[in-house]
Amino acid sequence: AGNRTFTMLKPDAVEKGHIGAILDQINASGFRIVAMKLTQMTTADAETFYAVHKERPFFGELVEFMTRGPIVAAILEKENAVEDFRTLIGATNPEDAAEGTIRKKYAASVGENAVHGSDSDENAAIEGAFHFAGREMF
Ligand code: CMP
Repeated sequence: AGNRTFTMLKPDAVEKGHIGAILDQINASGFRIVAMKLTQMTTADAETFYAVHKERPFFGELVEFMTRGPIVAAILEKENAVEDFRTLIGATNPEDAAEGTIRKKYAASVGENAVHGSDSDENAAIEGAFHFAGREMF
């Protein structure tokens, strides 16, 4: 039981072969995998998913990065899932991320930061529904 968050292991993490290590840390931290797949976002997908950032100077770079290769998309369940997952991944910029966090270990920069975590319960539901049909959630 508990509530849900949505994550993506981003193209940089997949390219570097970190899927297994990151999923292991997620499971060891008490999250249950509700839905998961290897997929690649199209430009239209990324522009829609990140629409909230479309006026930011890094928007073009973000869309380019997120579409350059496959990602692992997943829905995760745990008590206090959104907040606990953000603690587990660490700050957006790996230079500011706490020791032991996923971004501290695997992220190269603020742009190529290895993993996404939803910032609210509302966005977790929106983002999860963007990537998964109801019958893909267990
Ligand atoms: P995330 O929080 O998953 O979703 C928004 C993304 O925008 C963020 O991860 C970073 O990958 C990216 N981002 C945020 N700030 C910057 C920045 N200053 N330069 C480049 N990319 C950024």
